Amino acid sequence: MAAGCDLVLTNVLLPGGRVADVSVFRGKVCHVGARRTAGEIIDCRGMTVLPGAVDMHVHMRGRDQQYKEDWASGSMSALAGGVTLVVDQPNTVPPLTTPESFARRVAEARDASWCHYAINGGFVPGCDLLALWRRGAMAFGEIFAAASSYAEGLSYADLRNVLGTVSTLGGLCTIHAEEVGAGPDTDLGSHHALRTPEGEAVSVQRVRDQNDRGCRLHFCHLSCAESVSNAGNSTVEAAPHHLFLSLEEFDPSDARGKVNPPLRPDAVRRRLVSLWDRIDVLASDHAPHTPAEKELPFMDAPSGIPGVETMVPLALAFCRERKIPLASLIEKTSIRPCEILGLPRAGFQAGDRADFGVYPPGDVAIDADMLHSRAGWTPFEGKRAAFPVTVIMGGEVVYSEGTFTLGHPAWFPGRGFIGEELPRNSADTAQP
Ligand code: DOR
Repeated sequence: MAAGCDLVLTNVLLPGGRVADVSVFRGKVCHVGARRTAGEIIDCRGMTVLPGAVDMHVHMRGRDQQYKEDWASGSMSALAGGVTLVVDQPNTVPPLTTPESFARRVAEARDASWCHYAINGGFVPGCDLLALWRRGAMAFGEIFAAASSYAEGLSYADLRNVLGTVSTLGGLCTIHAEEVGAGPDTDLGSHHALRTPEGEAVSVQRVRDQNDRGCRLHFCHLSCAESVSNAGNSTVEAAPHHLFLSLEEFDPSDARGKVNPPLRPDAVRRRLVSLWDRIDVLASDHAPHTPAEKELPFMDAPSGIPGVETMVPLALAFCRERKIPLASLIEKTSIRPCEILGLPRAGFQAGDRADFGVYPPGDVAIDADMLHSRAGWTPFEGKRAAFPVTVIMGGEVVYSEGTFTLGHPAWFPGRGFIGEELPRNSADTAQP
């Protein structure tokens, strides 16, 4: 018998159809084939094993917004949904537009996150993008072409500037593309009519028109086929709520369906789903708000819905039902996000990060009570989903049938990081 390792997943059905044992040593896959001796063995016969997902679009909140979510609750929610690495967005309070606020955010995650994390830098006119890049921003954005919760929209002139600067850094800009019309925002129908699919598609084109220096662009949470078509060579992300929920499923006055970009009529949703193969990345846009906030008069209720925990489970049930190959799901939830962000991949090859979710063959109806986000509700109530029974991160079991064990969550800084020190204790540091 060959030399020992830490963990072996036995009888894993690999995406190509082969069944193999996956051996893990020091956090990485060391062999795929016949099993090695190991301290721990997990039999995966009859299960679906997916590489740990990367959710490249989450809002983990914290600080003044910790009543909605914080790094502990948000990252546990991620793990329980098979997501082992999250990319946090910079529209925090305060926003991550200075090296100090950025470093403090990293320290907050370091002190509380249960899963791996990367953090994007934000942009306001005049901010020092090079300083954020050197502090370890993974990418820049989401950069808002239109206002949203906790975010002002940028003018196209400002967008041209930020794209120009980020291109000189060799970085990536992730874009929230929308155009917003004028008028009262009183229910889900008017929300959709003020932020139309056509406006989103025009915004995608206009942002690309500003990109004369050829910055790498990634379009976040596109909600309609026309936007995807307008994205050209840029990478494209879609969110589970735009793929699996339609406007008609909600009472028009129910602000739990209020999100930017809005939920669309079913016909629009179906056309987006038909472009599944062109969608590079599934990302949740996990944007938790409390039930009380969502019960405010529609106009005042914040936009955004929680979703990090339900993303892979919903998508897995969807792929099984449509007989979409698991390789396609793995591409969108793990391989492409890693390629786009320059992260080491998780997977089934020697040297890959040993992050996995082990999913049972059946599915269940989603019930908010079984989820871990502090938001305490889900717009996916009752939808069929397959949740992982076991989640492995860095070769350690970090989640098993409702029980969490703290592993070794790590920060993945962006390429520009020059290794400056972080605050020692995130709670002690002053506001900028
Ligand atoms: O609906 C949204 N809510 N869209 C966004 O882009 C931001 C998010 C939030 O942070 O709540």
